[in-house]
Amino acid sequence: MSTYKLLLLPGDGIGTEIMREMEKITQWLTAQGIIFFETETDLVGGASYDAHGTPVTDAVVAQALKADAVFMGAVGGPKWADVGFANRPEAALLRLRADLDVFANLRPAICYPALVGASSLKPELVEGLDILIVRELTSGVYFREPKEIVTLEDGSKRATDTQIYTTGEIERIAKVAFELAQQRRNKVSSAEKHNVMASGILWKQIVTQVGKELYPSVELEHVLADNCAMQLVRQPKQFDVIVTDNLFGDILSDVAAMLTGSLGMLPSASLGNTNPVTGRRFALYEPVHGSAPDIAGQNAANPLAMIGSLAMALRYSFDRGDVAEKLEKAIINVLANGTRTRDIADGAQAVGTSAMGDAVLAELQKLF
Ligand code: NAD
Ligand code: IPM
Ligand code: MN
Repeated sequence: MSTYKLLLLPGDGIGTEIMREMEKITQWLTAQGIIFFETETDLVGGASYDAHGTPVTDAVVAQALKADAVFMGAVGGPKWADVGFANRPEAALLRLRADLDVFANLRPAICYPALVGASSLKPELVEGLDILIVRELTSGVYFREPKEIVTLEDGSKRATDTQIYTTGEIERIAKVAFELAQQRRNKVSSAEKHNVMASGILWKQIVTQVGKELYPSVELEHVLADNCAMQLVRQPKQFDVIVTDNLFGDILSDVAAMLTGSLGMLPSASLGNTNPVTGRRFALYEPVHGSAPDIAGQNAANPLAMIGSLAMALRYSFDRGDVAEKLEKAIINVLANGTRTRDIADGAQAVGTSAMGDAVLAELQKLF
């Protein structure tokens, strides 16, 4: 059996705490010979800025380009609030996404039965919820130029971000969404602003065309992105796969997170084209949440989004859906047993980050 190279980038704040819990799982899987991982850990974000003066070094990017999969904890925090734009911790994440060209960001929002009461919505609205947001991740307003703040003659300033999408960029993300819908409930909702944005008009046109030509049996609807946010809290179970651009996807996935009980529950996979070095798709796995400075260092973070991201890696990078299912089942069992971190405790007794990681590992061991 081959040994897979993982690059672990814990980052800042709770990033290091949740990565530790994920590593307990990769180490156990390797020790048992279920799948062999070799890990290398490096700095990213504010931690890298403090050590090297840059949020991500060229050496780390080079390692990421050679890895079978990259795992990122989280970056950012108040300590780096005044660092210039190009060196902000978040810039590291954007560079990694761009350099690996992981354009397809899969953000599943599943409400586990045991957590129905932890959601912000009424139980009947979220019971059985299972939606997948497919977010375009390497273009749009996050990346396109010009992106600048200039000082005008009168001393005032002008800030510019640029939203651009091309046919090719929309086609490739649309295909990912349709393919995944075919493995699920066969419905794609495209969230765009085709009423006010040129990119929204092209988005709608191209998604429609891809659907008609290649996936005629998949139901396709177009939802204005603002309405989509509203529908997500009104009647979230109407959705199966939501495909959307970079910025809308960022916002809609945080909304979707709270349907599941906590932002600490949402994993993600960012996938690109085949890496000629590894023969596998470029892949970056990270929780949807950030470095949570308000709870960092307290052993209070929920590691399930990070551990769930490992389950996604087992499925999408390593073709080990069997192990992924067991890991997901272990998470479900732990929750069913009443083990809760503070964010999902709903007033009940909470355990710490490391106890939650231990509990998942213990459940996983029972499943083998
Ligand atoms: P955040 O996601 O870090 O936190 C939002 C809220 O959710 C906080 O109250 C936090 O305590 C809670 N939360 C988040 N993850 C949790 C977890 N695993 N367990 C329990 N509670 C959790 O968002 P923010 O506060 O707006 O941003 C903080 C920093 O993180 C910023 O610098 C931001 O840019 C960065 N950020 C990074 C990433 C990333 O690295 N992928 C993602 C989002 C935000
Ligand atoms: C996310 C985060 C990032 C984003 C930031 C930290 C750059 O919010 O992954 O959701 O906006 O994409
Ligand atoms: Mn976000």
